[in-house]
Amino acid sequence: MARVVLENVFKRFGKAQVIHGVDLEIEDLEFMVLVGPSGCGKSTLLRMVAGLEKISDGTIRIGDAVVNQVAPKDRGCAMVFQNYALYPHMNVFKNMSFGLKLMGTPRPEIEKRVGEAADILGIQDLLKRKPHELSGGQRQRVAMGRAIVRKPSVFLFDEPLSNLDAKLRNQMRIEIKRLHQKVRTTVIYVTHDQIEAMTLADRIVVLRDGRIEQVGTPLDVFERPANTFVAGFIGSPPMNLLPARIVSHGGQLCLRFNDAFQLPIPDRKGARIEDGQEVVMGLRTESLTLENGSESEGVAEAWKVEGMVDVVEPLGGETHLHMDFFGVKFIARAEGYKVVAPGATLKMVMNLDRLHIFDAASRQAIY
Ligand SMILES: Nc1ncnc2c1ncn2[C@@H]1O[C@H](COP(=O)(O)OP(=O)(O)OP(=O)(O)O)[C@@H](O)[C@H]1O
Ligand SMILES: [Mg+2]
Repeated sequence: MARVVLENVFKRFGKAQVIHGVDLEIEDLEFMVLVGPSGCGKSTLLRMVAGLEKISDGTIRIGDAVVNQVAPKDRGCAMVFQNYALYPHMNVFKNMSFGLKLMGTPRPEIEKRVGEAADILGIQDLLKRKPHELSGGQRQRVAMGRAIVRKPSVFLFDEPLSNLDAKLRNQMRIEIKRLHQKVRTTVIYVTHDQIEAMTLADRIVVLRDGRIEQVGTPLDVFERPANTFVAGFIGSPPMNLLPARIVSHGGQLCLRFNDAFQLPIPDRKGARIEDGQEVVMGLRTESLTLENGSESEGVAEAWKVEGMVDVVEPLGGETHLHMDFFGVKFIARAEGYKVVAPGATLKMVMNLDRLHIFDAASRQAIY
C-alpha cells in the first residue's frame, strides 16, 4: 500500500514561505497530477515527498509510515526529472542498473529487472548506447526505465515531457498512461500543461502560490471550477471570464454586461446570487456556438444572440471565433473548418446549462 498523505505541510526557504499549509491525500495506485503556473511550488512539493527537500512544518506519510525523517533512498519513491539526469559516460544498461547495483542487488536480478523495464518501454535495442547517442524521447524512456527497475511504490514525475517537441510529447504522454496501466503504482506527476493534467490524471491538484485552489477529477475541475483561477487555468482556449452585474427585471435575475447586453440567468438550486451583486461570468468556448451547429442540439437553456466576428482561427477540426456582442468580447467555438469574414454577423447560441458565475470579490463559484 502506498497512500501518500500530506498534512499541513509548509516550506520556507530562509524567510520566504513558498508552501502554505498543504493538506492532500493521494490514494494507493492513484495517478495524481499537480498543475499550476511557474513558481507555484509544484517541484518543491514533489521534492518534499521524495525527501530531496526538508519540510519546514507538517507531516508526510507514505504507506503507513511518517517519512519526515526518512532518507530519500528509503522512501520507496523513484523520481523522473525533466532533464533526465542520466550519467553521460554510462551506457543505457548501466544507467538503468546503477541504483540497483548500489543497493547490492545480485547481478541476475539486475539483468531481469532491466530486461523487463526495457521491454515495457521498447528500448531493448538501445541498452549498449550512451545517452548522447539517443534522441530526447529515448533518453526520457531510459530515465523512466531507471525508475521502474527500482520497483518503487510511488513514482514521482517532474515535468518529464517538457523538453520534448509537441509531437513526441503527445506520444510519450500516451506511453506514460500505458506505463501506469502496466506498472501498478501510485503516481504524483507535476506539469504546467493543463492538457497533460486532464488526460493523465485520476485527480488533479490545481496549485497557486503555494496553496491548493482545487482538488478533483479532471471532469470536476473542468465542469465545476471552484473559482476563477481554476476556471481560467483549465481548458484551452480558456473559459470566457467577463465582469458583469446581477440585475433583476420583474423577478428574473440577469447578467448585465453593459446597457445593450444582458443575459437571463436560469434558476438553479444552490445559487447564491442577488440583485446588485458584482460578479464574473464564466462560459466555456464550446458553450457558445453557431445557432445552426450540431453542438447546440439538446440544450435546455439556450440563449440566442447575434454577434459580430472579430477574428477567426480555423484549426482544421474546429474553428475559434472571436466575437463581439454589443461591445463584449467572447471566444466561441464551432465544429469543422469555418471560413467567416471578419465583420460578418453570426447567429449564435449560448448554452446557459453550462453557465458559471463567480463572486467578483472572493472569485469563488456562487452558481
Ligand atoms: N532552493 C530554493 N531557495 C529559495 N527559493 C526557492 C528554492 N527552490 C524554490 N524556491 C522558490 O519556491 C517557489 C516555488 O518553486 P518551485 O520550483 O516549486 O515552483 P514550480 O511550481 O515547480 O515552478 P516551475 O513550473 O517553474 O518549475 C518559487 O518562488 C521559487 O523561487
Ligand atoms: Mg518545477
